[in-house]
Amino acid sequence: MSALIRWLQDRLPVTGDDIQPMTNEPVPKHMERWWFALGGTPAYLFVIQIITGILLTIYYKPSPDTAYESVRFITEEAAFGWYIRGLHKWAATLMIAAVILHQMRVYFTGAYRKPRELNWMVGMMMLLCTLLIGFTGYSLVFEQLSYWGATVGANIADAVPFVGGFFKTMLLGGEVYNDNTLPRSFILHAAVLPVTLTLLSIVHIMIIRLQGVTEFQFEEDKDKPPQHFSFWPDHVMSELAMGLVLMIILSVLATVVPADSDPKPIR
Ligand code: HEM
Repeated sequence: MSALIRWLQDRLPVTGDDIQPMTNEPVPKHMERWWFALGGTPAYLFVIQIITGILLTIYYKPSPDTAYESVRFITEEAAFGWYIRGLHKWAATLMIAAVILHQMRVYFTGAYRKPRELNWMVGMMMLLCTLLIGFTGYSLVFEQLSYWGATVGANIADAVPFVGGFFKTMLLGGEVYNDNTLPRSFILHAAVLPVTLTLLSIVHIMIIRLQGVTEFQFEEDKDKPPQHFSFWPDHVMSELAMGLVLMIILSVLATVVPADSDPKPIR
């Protein structure tokens, strides 16, 4: 083991003492409350989405002739397929709720104001990506809801002035719902949108690291100097504990309200 560490240190001369200043950044005391640290919740749910999404892709077949049957296979025959599908579906639902709650916290505490307007705009793009990932996901089961969801969504896109018609044709792969629609939704859902959201998340976190989170003065602390706690291990440990709670909630939901499928679309 020590030979391996020596081998690594000869090539990457970084010690624990070098890394420590990067991890022990002081975090304002109010971030101990879950309501203020809500940004970690959609991040955690997004990771669950990526892991379960990769597992689903092992059996999912993104073509109009095979999609419905492959989802049935995942749900009824593949080992723990029902559980992975349930986690994926519920993590998507909770992620949308968590992003909106996080945005509400930022809005109602005025944390979007100067100098954080740019990060608010990045956040708006992240919200859009999150909603689109959920929306394109519905199309993949190729059930009644997939057909009507894609049709209504494309008509909404069509209403955008000038470029709407182009968006509609790009989304549907034609003028109406057809056999090209499902593969397009799959590429958006499993590649374009998650990669975009990952890149936006990196920008979002970099801006937060540059600016720090907003310091708030609470009534009960108004005579005290600003208080902080350490990012590592305190904040990381409380985020991990929150992750464990979320995993339990997701598992209960996936078991009690499992993901099922509507009938196939009548076109
Ligand atoms: C996938 C979606 C998102 C993730 C993973 C995320 C993540 C985070 C994290 C970890 C923080 C640090 C403080 C905290 O935990 O609250 C934060 C802060 C912030 N977020 Fe987000 N966020 C997301 C979406 C959004 C949205 C939709 C908006 C607004 C439109 C937004 C605007 C902001 C702003 C302005 C801050 C700074 C808050 C402060 O200074 O107190 N974020 N975000």
